[in-house]
Amino acid sequence: MKWTRAITSGSAAALAGVAAHDLLQRKHALLRNFPVVGHARYLLEAIGPELRQYIVAGNDEERPFSRDQRRWVYASSKLENNYFGFGTDNDVEHTEGYPVINHRTFSDIAPPTHHHAGVEQPLPSAKVLGGPRQRARQFRPASLVNVSAMSFGSLSGPAIEAINRGAALAGCLHNTGEGGLSPYHRNGGELVFQIGTAYFGCRDKQGRFDLQRLVDLVESAPVRALEIKLSQGAKPGLGGVLPGAKVTQQIAEIRGIEEGVDCISPSRHAEFSDVDSLLDWVELLATTTGLPVGIKSAVGDLTFWKSLVDQMSARDRGVDFVTIDGGEGGTGAAPMVFADSVSLPFRVGFSRVYRLFAEAGLQHDVTFVGGGKLGIPDNAVVAMALGCDLLNVAREPMLAIGCIQAQRCHTDRCPTGVATQDAWLSHGLDPQLKSVRMANYVKTVRRDLLKLAETCGVAHPALIDTDDVEVLYGNHVAKPLREVYGYEPGWGRVSYEQREAITAIMAGAPQGGTAPASTGAHGG
Ligand SMILES: Cc1cc2nc3c(=O)[nH]c(=O)nc-3n(C[C@H](O)[C@H](O)[C@H](O)COP(=O)(O)O)c2cc1C
Ligand code: SF4
Repeated sequence: MKWTRAITSGSAAALAGVAAHDLLQRKHALLRNFPVVGHARYLLEAIGPELRQYIVAGNDEERPFSRDQRRWVYASSKLENNYFGFGTDNDVEHTEGYPVINHRTFSDIAPPTHHHAGVEQPLPSAKVLGGPRQRARQFRPASLVNVSAMSFGSLSGPAIEAINRGAALAGCLHNTGEGGLSPYHRNGGELVFQIGTAYFGCRDKQGRFDLQRLVDLVESAPVRALEIKLSQGAKPGLGGVLPGAKVTQQIAEIRGIEEGVDCISPSRHAEFSDVDSLLDWVELLATTTGLPVGIKSAVGDLTFWKSLVDQMSARDRGVDFVTIDGGEGGTGAAPMVFADSVSLPFRVGFSRVYRLFAEAGLQHDVTFVGGGKLGIPDNAVVAMALGCDLLNVAREPMLAIGCIQAQRCHTDRCPTGVATQDAWLSHGLDPQLKSVRMANYVKTVRRDLLKLAETCGVAHPALIDTDDVEVLYGNHVAKPLREVYGYEPGWGRVSYEQREAITAIMAGAPQGGTAPASTGAHGG
């Protein structure tokens, strides 16, 4: 009896020790929030591959991000080994729509990739944002990969802070989302301020857009561009409600709304009602603030886009960038039918819009930004080849700062403190530590994209072409992207001047590549 008691008290002491350790450590939000029991997740993660051989799904079956994709993000963000052994386990031979990148055997260009994780390599945009329309505060974005819109409110304060600090470390832009500009956004990272239908952060007491408030706001923070949100892929054409109970004093102050009262986001803007008035508004914002101004939208009916291209063809008014969000994109909360069935997936939607701009010869005047699982390198390369200039990522950085894809973001019970306003759950997330992970992740995507450019023998991923990427239809047919999406030769590429400029920028960096040729080499 004595020894059973001794074992029991020994185990209790051990458990108490583990619990104390879990509560005090800062590396894992899950363990801080769920001491002791949280270890089960790490155990399952570690022995998952072996277990799955016998019981459950394969590495590519989980959605929205497969187990392999998540493992790659987690490992990249921790600078752990993110390689995969034994060869692909994707069903390349039987999967319809599988993209394959065509490498080149010879090339004069060796982009400056380095083989070590953590080695920094700048990868700027091939286009100057706001350059074609001569905006006063035009600039060349320093990073091809940037953080997409996610508001304080849908994400916790510590999550926003981790992302903003990470953006500063990685030198990328951080989009505020439509919920206004919070103190958590003011940690050094440069911002894109998003203007949604409720004008949070730049509205008066009646909820009307207030230009002076916008000017004051963007001057109080490192805002580099404005994004007018028309819609997002996961819930286009849908307004939103933040229930009064969630409208805390802090959220009320940041959004410019009343505390404790239901906060409604309408489905459409009050400041404009057609393309003509939209373009007038874009010019007003751009001339008043000097900032580049763009729109974000999912793609459905093309009438809007045709009219936009038509009216921009006069070249007296125009958006500086267009962010296209795929229907597969993420959200904090949306009705199932909207998340599943409204708006086109990224590749189809983007190529339709790009084609309209290219037919009008306007594709070089606009920076195209893509979103919809583009933080995974193979998706990113397809987007770049189709004509994207910048890549927006949202859920991938969430994974980098600790999200385990539990898909409970809409319940306020996020176990890792990423997507919740619950004080206990969000306290587990250490913004300092996670900011480094977020930066590591962004740097790794950039490095992989550079490696892929090197593989294709070009200086920058923007120079990867629609003929460099093919789509497999099982193992019997492969078609270049150009054919699949009906592109004319040259579409998807940047202009000659843009190509020369980015090639010169990339050539300034130290070159990777081969050892010097031997004396007997037959160079060409
Ligand atoms: C938690 C969460 C909140 C979001 N909030 C916004 C928002 O405020 N405004 C917006 O335009 N898009 C919002 N989005 C959509 C993302 O900005 C992005 O367009 C979409 O998730 C696609 O990127 P991804 O596949 O890399 O996640 C949100 C997405 C998530 C996951
Ligand atoms: S609820 Fe789940 S999916 Fe949503 S952020 Fe938290 S861990 Fe990620």
